[in-house]
Amino acid sequence: MDKWITKSELEGYPVISQGEAADALSLCVSGVLKYLDDFTEAFPGAASLHNNYIPGPNKGWTTGFYTGELWLAYENASDEAVRERLKKAALAQVDSFYDRIKNLVDVEHHDMGFLYSPSCVAAYKLTGSEIGREAAILAADKLITRFQKVGGFLQAWGEMGATDNYRFIIDCLLNLPLLYWASGETGDSGYREIAEKHIHTAMANVIREDDSTWHTVFMDPVTGSFHHGATCQGYKDGSAWARGQAWGIYGTAVAYKYTGRDEYIGYFKRVTDYFLEHLPKDLCPFWDLSFGNGDEETEPRDSSSAVIAACGMLEMCKDLNMTDSTYYKSGAEKLLKAVTDNYRVKDIDSSNGRLLHGTYSKKSPYNTCTEEGVDECVIWGDYYYMEALTRFLDPDWVVYW
Ligand code: GLY
Repeated sequence: MDKWITKSELEGYPVISQGEAADALSLCVSGVLKYLDDFTEAFPGAASLHNNYIPGPNKGWTTGFYTGELWLAYENASDEAVRERLKKAALAQVDSFYDRIKNLVDVEHHDMGFLYSPSCVAAYKLTGSEIGREAAILAADKLITRFQKVGGFLQAWGEMGATDNYRFIIDCLLNLPLLYWASGETGDSGYREIAEKHIHTAMANVIREDDSTWHTVFMDPVTGSFHHGATCQGYKDGSAWARGQAWGIYGTAVAYKYTGRDEYIGYFKRVTDYFLEHLPKDLCPFWDLSFGNGDEETEPRDSSSAVIAACGMLEMCKDLNMTDSTYYKSGAEKLLKAVTDNYRVKDIDSSNGRLLHGTYSKKSPYNTCTEEGVDECVIWGDYYYMEALTRFLDPDWVVYW
C-alpha cells in the first residue's frame, strides 16, 4: 500500500455537494444553539475532554474562535429571533474581549489576530459594534509591540528579545489580517508596514526545499538572517506538522490577498501541493504529515488541519487562473467531503463540538510541546469547519480575516 494517497485516488475522491454542506452547517448552528447557555458568559477551552468542552475563562489564544462560531451561526441562521439570541451572546463575548485587552489579561504573545479577528473585527463588520472596533484596534496596538526590527518579524512567544525565543512561527500569518484591518480603519499605515515586513520574512524563510514548512524559525538577533528552524508541535525537526502546513496554506493565501505579490501564488501552490500529496487515503491528515496509510492504530489525526487548508484553498482560488482555481477549489471540496462524511459531530447530544478527531499537541520523543487535546475536538477546528462550509456555500462571504 502506498504511504499517502495517490494522484489518481485524489483525483477520484468525491467533492461535497451543496446539500451536504448546507445540512452540515445547519447541524453546526443547531449545536451552537444547543449549548449556548453554557458558553455565553464562559468560553470553551482549546480542546475538549472526551469530545465535550468545559466552560472556562477568556484566556489563552483560542477563545476568539468560539465567538467566531457565534458570528457564523448568526450569519447562517434564518430565524430572526434565533439571530438576535446569537448576536446578543456574541456581543456579550465582545465585551469580555474588550475587558481583556483593556486589562491586559494574558495578551503577552502574538495571537492577537486569532483572538480579535473572528470576535471583535467580525462584530464590527457585522453589527458596527464600536466596542468591537476599539478592542480590535487595542489588540493590533498590542501585536505590533512584538515586532523585532532585526530580522523583521513578530516574535511569537516569551520575553521580547530572549535568545531562546528570538523566533516567529508559521501560524502567525493568520494574525496579520488584524493589522491590515487596523490600518484601514485608522488610516495609520504603521500596522500594515509591520505586517508586510513579517510576511516578507516568513515567506523567505519558512518554506523548505521540499515544500514542507518549518513550524518555528529562529532568526539571528545580530545579523537578522535565518538561524535555524525547529518544530514545537510537529513530530520532529524537519517533519511536516500537519497544522503548520495548513497554516502555511491559509497564510500564503492571506499574504497574497493583502500584498498582491505574484510570487506568493507560487508559494501557495508549493505548500498546498505538499499537503495534498501527504494525506492518507481517507483525506483526513494525521497530526504530522510524515505519518500515512498504515499508521491508523498508533497515530491520531488532526481534522482541524483539513478545514484550515480548505479555507485557505477557497480563499486563494478567488485569485487563481481557471485551471488552478478549479483544481484547488475541488481540493477544498474533497477535504470538506472527507471530514463531513467521517470526522464531524453527527449527534449533537453526544458532543458540544463540531468536528471530532483533532489534535492540539502530541508529545513525541523529539518535539518540545506539552501533550494536550489528542484526538479531541479543538475549537479552531470547529470554527474553521464552519468557515469553510460558509465559504463553500457563499463564495462572496465577507471574511473576518
Ligand atoms: N497556533 C497554535 C496551534 O495551531 O496549535
